[in-house]
Amino acid sequence: MAELSNYPTKDPVLVTCGLPYASGPMHIGHLRTYVPADVFVRLLKKMGVDATFVCGSDTHGTPVLVAAEAEGLTPKETYQKYHKILKDTFPKLNIFFDNYGTTDDKENIERTTQIVTTLLDNGHIYPKEIETPFCDTCGRSQPDRFVRGTCPYCGADARGDECDQGCGRYIEPGLILDPRCAVCGNPTRPITRTHYFLKLSAFESFVEKFLNEVDGTKNAKNFALGWVKEGLRDWCITRDLDWGVRFPVDESLVLYVWVDAPIGYMSSTEQWAKRIGKRNEWEKYWKPGDGRLVHFIGLDIVQHHCIFWPAMLKGSGYNLPFAIVASGMLKVEGHNFSRGRGYVVWILKDYLDRGLDPDYLRYYMVSYTSQTKDLDFSWDAFADKVNIELVGTLGNFIYRGLHFAHKNYGEIPEGKLDPELKKEIEASLKTIAEGVNEYELKKVADEVMRLASVGNNYFQSNQPWSLVKTDKKKAGQVIFNALALSKALAVLIEPFMPGVAEKVWGQLGFEAKTVHDVHFEDALSPPKAGTKLKKPKPVISKIEDEQLVELRRIIKERVLAAEARQKGGPKPKMTPIKETISYEDFQKIDLRAGKILKCEKVEGKDRLLKIEVDIGSEKRTMATGLGHLYKPEELQGLTALFLVNLEPKKVGGIESNGMILAVEKAGNPGEWVPVRLDGVPPGSKAA
Ligand code: MF3
Ligand code: ZN
Repeated sequence: MAELSNYPTKDPVLVTCGLPYASGPMHIGHLRTYVPADVFVRLLKKMGVDATFVCGSDTHGTPVLVAAEAEGLTPKETYQKYHKILKDTFPKLNIFFDNYGTTDDKENIERTTQIVTTLLDNGHIYPKEIETPFCDTCGRSQPDRFVRGTCPYCGADARGDECDQGCGRYIEPGLILDPRCAVCGNPTRPITRTHYFLKLSAFESFVEKFLNEVDGTKNAKNFALGWVKEGLRDWCITRDLDWGVRFPVDESLVLYVWVDAPIGYMSSTEQWAKRIGKRNEWEKYWKPGDGRLVHFIGLDIVQHHCIFWPAMLKGSGYNLPFAIVASGMLKVEGHNFSRGRGYVVWILKDYLDRGLDPDYLRYYMVSYTSQTKDLDFSWDAFADKVNIELVGTLGNFIYRGLHFAHKNYGEIPEGKLDPELKKEIEASLKTIAEGVNEYELKKVADEVMRLASVGNNYFQSNQPWSLVKTDKKKAGQVIFNALALSKALAVLIEPFMPGVAEKVWGQLGFEAKTVHDVHFEDALSPPKAGTKLKKPKPVISKIEDEQLVELRRIIKERVLAAEARQKGGPKPKMTPIKETISYEDFQKIDLRAGKILKCEKVEGKDRLLKIEVDIGSEKRTMATGLGHLYKPEELQGLTALFLVNLEPKKVGGIESNGMILAVEKAGNPGEWVPVRLDGVPPGSKAA
C-alpha cells in the first residue's frame, strides 16, 4: 500500500508509462495511462521533487508485424510512420516526456543485448525444445498474435500469447489449445525447435517479496500475487521471427518483444542523460540506490511489469521498481474498447483536429473515476464534466473575479488574505498530497473543484457587486481574496490542465508559462495588489449541443460500419467475364475522347438522353440510356470516352452515331458512370 509519507521526497523519481506499440495512431485507450502519468509528474514537480519522465515507441513483436502486413509496409516503415505520429501527438495533449525514443534505437538494442548476456552469464537462461505453431498455408511459424485458439486457463478464445477476451493471463508459446493461424484461419501444426527460457520458477520467492513491498495501486499487486501463488512457469524469451532484437546465442531467433520493450524505459533514460550532457545520469535511477522507478501501466500488462520485469532486473543486477500504478480498463459508450468494432475515439481525428481543448480531455480522464476502476467514456459524460464542472464551477469563478476587478479597479485591489480562505487552500494542499501518495488522481481533481466551489460561495455570500456601490474599498478586499483563490487554483489545476492554468496565470498579470515552474506553496501567497489587469476572457468554453451531436454521430457511424464489415457487408455481384477476343478484333474498335456539347431529354422516354458530341474531327448526335441516372445539365460539358465506329442505330426515334462508354458500379446493377476523360482534347484516340 502507498505510504502517506512517500512524497514529497529528496530521492529522484523516474516516471515511465507503458510504451505504445508503433502500430497505429493514438486513441482514447492510450490516455488512460499517459494522462495520469503526466499529471503525476507535474504534481511531483510542484512538490519540489526531482522527477524525470520517459517513454518511447514499442517497435517489435507481432503487433507491429500485423500492422505492417495490413498496410503493405515493411516493419521498419510501419514503426517509423506511427512513431512519428505518436511522438507528435503527445505534446498536443500537453504531455511532455524528457525523452521519447524507440525500442529499435541503438541504445536499446545494446542495452537489451547487455542484459540478456548478463542473464545468460548468471545462469538464468536455459535452452529447451518446444512445439510451436507452424502454418503450412502461410509457410511460416506463427507465434503470438499470429495465432488464435483457446486459453488453456479459462477456455476463452485467445491470442497466442495473451488471453485477451478472458482471464487476461499471459500464454506461453505452444500452450494455446486448438491453435489456428490468425492470417488464413487454417489450423496450424506443431513444429519442434530449441527455444530459450528465463528460469522464472527460481525467482518465485523473490517476486513474492518484491510484490509485498512494492508501492503503487492495489490492483497491480493483488493480481500478480494471485499468479505467483499458482506457481511461476519459466518464461520463453525467444521467437522464430525475423523482426526484433537478435538473441545473442542463436542469431536465427529474436527476443520476445516483452524482453526488449521494458528495457526501453532504461535506454530512453540513457538517451535523456546523453542529451542533457550528463552521460551517467541515467544510473541514478537504474543502478541500485535511492532512485525510484514508478511505472504507470494498464491493467492488461500487470503480469509483465510485476513478474517478468522485476525478475529480469534482479537477475541482471539493476534497480527494482519502486511503484507500479495500474489503471483500470476503458469502455467506450458502454462497450469494451475495440478498434475493430468501432468503439474507439481517435485522439487526432475525433478530438484535437476538431479544435477541442486537450485539457478538457485530460481533466475528464483523471476526474471521471478512480484510477484503478474501469472508465466508461461517453461524450455525454464528457460534455457534462466540461459544461458543469469546468465552465460552471471553475471557469465561472475565475472569470467573475477578474471581470469585476478589471471593470471596477483596472488592477488587483488592495487586500489581505482571509484566514478562512487560507485554511481552505492549506486543506486542499494536504488532500492533494494524499492523492499523490495514494496514486489517486481523482482525489486531486475533486479537491481542486471543491476549492473552486468554496470560491463561488465566498463570492456569492460577500456580494461584491452590491458592496461596491457603498464601500468600494471593502468590495476591493473581497475581490483581492477572490483573485488570491484564483491564483491558488491556477497553481493547483496546472498538473491536469496546463494550458488553462497558463491562461489564468497570464490574466492575473504573471508571465503565463511560469505557472509550470512554481511550487505548491505558491498557492498560499496572494498576487500583488496594484498589478494592472487586462480585460479578461473566459478560460474554458462550453461544449455546444451541435458539437456533441456530431461527436456522438461519429461513434455511431463507426460502430454501424464495423457491424456491416463483420457481416461481410453487401458483397458486390459480379457478372462473369465474357469470352476472350482476338487482338485483331480488339484493334477494330475506335475509342475516342468526346466532349458533350449539348444534352437534352427525349420526350416520353425517361431513360433516354440525346447528346451532341464533339469528337474532334466532327460533331455527332448520339443517344444514351443514362437518363434515369443523370440530369441533362450533369452530362453537358463533360468529356467522356466514346465508341465512334459502331454502326448507326435508331434508338427512340433518334439515329445514334456512336456510344458513350460507361461502367456499371460493382454491387449496384443498373447504376452507370460515364468513363470521364476530363481535360483530354476531343478526338484523342484511346490506345
Ligand atoms: N507495447 C505494450 C502494449 O501496448 C506495452 C509495452 S510496456 C513496456 O501493451 F514495458 F514493455 F515497455
Ligand atoms: Zn496461415
